[in-house]
Amino acid sequence: MQTATPYPHILHGCDYNPEQWLDRPDILSQDILQMQQASINCVSLGIFAWAALEPAEGDYRLDWLAEIIDALYANGIRTVLATPSGARPLWLAAKYPEVRRVRADRVRELPGGRHNHCYTSLVYREKVRAVNTKLAERFAHHPAVILWHVSNEIQGECHCALCQAAFRDWLKARYGSLDALNAAWWTAFWSHTYTDWEQIESPSPIGETGIHGLNLDWKRFCSAQMRSFLENEIAPLKAENPLIPVTTNFMQFYDGIGYHELAKSLDIVSWDCYPAWHSSADGDESEQAYPADAYSDLCRSMLGKPFLLMENTPSHTNWQTVCRPKTWGFHRLTAISALAHGADSIQYFQWRQSRGGCEKLHGAVMTHANRTDTRVFQEVSDLGRTLQKLDALCGARTNARIAILYDTESHWAVNDAQGPRNDGIGDTELMLRFYKAYWKTGYAVDIVDAEADYSGYHLLCVPMLYMLRGDTAKRICDYARSGGTVVLTMHTGIADEHDLCFTGDTPGGGLAGLAGIRFLESDPLYDGQHETMHIVKAPFPLAESYRLEKLCERIAPAGAEVLGVYDTGNPCMPDDLPCLTRHACGRGTAYYLAGFAEDRFFSDFLPELAERLGVHPVLDTTFPHGVSAAARQGRDGTEFLFVMNWTREQKSVTLPYALKDYETGKIYQSKLPLSPYGAKILVRA
Ligand code: GAL
Repeated sequence: MQTATPYPHILHGCDYNPEQWLDRPDILSQDILQMQQASINCVSLGIFAWAALEPAEGDYRLDWLAEIIDALYANGIRTVLATPSGARPLWLAAKYPEVRRVRADRVRELPGGRHNHCYTSLVYREKVRAVNTKLAERFAHHPAVILWHVSNEIQGECHCALCQAAFRDWLKARYGSLDALNAAWWTAFWSHTYTDWEQIESPSPIGETGIHGLNLDWKRFCSAQMRSFLENEIAPLKAENPLIPVTTNFMQFYDGIGYHELAKSLDIVSWDCYPAWHSSADGDESEQAYPADAYSDLCRSMLGKPFLLMENTPSHTNWQTVCRPKTWGFHRLTAISALAHGADSIQYFQWRQSRGGCEKLHGAVMTHANRTDTRVFQEVSDLGRTLQKLDALCGARTNARIAILYDTESHWAVNDAQGPRNDGIGDTELMLRFYKAYWKTGYAVDIVDAEADYSGYHLLCVPMLYMLRGDTAKRICDYARSGGTVVLTMHTGIADEHDLCFTGDTPGGGLAGLAGIRFLESDPLYDGQHETMHIVKAPFPLAESYRLEKLCERIAPAGAEVLGVYDTGNPCMPDDLPCLTRHACGRGTAYYLAGFAEDRFFSDFLPELAERLGVHPVLDTTFPHGVSAAARQGRDGTEFLFVMNWTREQKSVTLPYALKDYETGKIYQSKLPLSPYGAKILVRA
């Protein structure tokens, strides 16, 4: 396992915008001293600096940036160098209106804002390539530059004429003929048969939204277009020095793009982490923490190696409904949890608060007061000193034997389909229920997409995989038949990769045979309604019954044993309808869960199932509520164990063997005390 960057230390960095302070050399020189005090070892430079780098077309001014990079480097601070395409200069928008994005309602946006350019525009691509080339020529061999940060939070879509033409070309390449496209999109429905490629328009609230194949292909096209835009950005950087890795920062569960598609063009995945911390009434932050850790695991699984935590706030955001600062000690907790789940960096938005603009009240390491005796500065500095001791963690691997399959394309399709629940089908929520059961009990989990290789896992969880694209179904079947265990759920295997429903027995693609069941009908529930699953044959100790919500399915066994049945109290309904089954297939086993079960079911069922498969948590103990744990194996063989307390209460973890605090050297023989919001980095004593 390599380290994420050529710099073999955990990165402790921040977005740094000296371009906003070029008339304040006093501030700039103070910054360096203060960064050293805070043990900052890298900064992300130039993210939105295009107007300073190229104030007029072709007039490049890179000297100021060179001076800053040099001065930082002379003081031991490396540079993560950004390309500036996330926000374009006004002269560019004024001279070349085509770079401005057209919305789905076909209105072209005015200049201003950010993250709003057309990805197809050749003009924009050329201008980006030109400025990137200048940056690469000047800095790609600078010893300070350890990583390219390409653009920023790539997002959105453009519906301009250039994009429409590119979309049609993309469709021609994909389908070859209009007949094939009409068949894939089922356009005989409502007489929407295309007879000319020019009739094809991207989905629009003032036009077509009802052809699901079109909607899906549009999202695929946007992802492909963004990837090609990204590659256009990367090419001049790599041409100058292929050894400097590239990343671009992702947003938690943003589904406007297929991030897995983008990741194929990256050396490192990074993401920006902004949960609504401290929104709970009782100070228990678990509900915010586990989805964040899930996203870390998802990012780590994308390229199968550590990721970077490119942004998080050292204190508060300024865009949440209520912008609470991280309370005392909480920043350390969130940082250690990110490291635990595979981060090789802790980086902030932002180093210094701007004086103006819409982010002037966002949290930062340095606030307007420009003081270092603040709580936030002290906590950031303390964390920096901790990170300095963690070189052995850099590039450390996570050994997960359990995978949860969560596929963005299936997510798009299941949320676009009308029915069976239009009030939120809950695919992400269901995936997170699976995840949470393992998070609470300290199991390592990968979150993979449909294209992943599942063969190395002992257990594959497949929650609501509505769409089966490519050979996914076959690979799931092969995996189980050759000895793997699969947990399938309701609303899986409904449609193929064109979002065309399978005919015949479902779940399609052979999964019905694998599970030994047949889908009969969906029975979605309104919020507040529930059904009950009654366990009739527990494969291992389970409770007698569990609540089912949101979406239930009626299924018929076709070879599977029935483990649970519906117990609805509905006199019209037969009393032996299955809702949990198990089927032996080849050398493996497939479980099928037909109802959207409550958390308690997953907590009882999933860890126990893992145990039976010989998969164990990172520490063989029962974690108290609100405590999570994760492990990483360092390149030198060090087994790091991280334990996090997400509550305001003192907690204690019973230890199966003695552990040593990696920071202090203190040995814990049989009990590990955790202070409120405490986090520990441990190794075997
Ligand atoms: C991120 C963005 C940063 C900054 C930050 C504020 O999404 O990349 O530039 O705006 O949010 O929280």
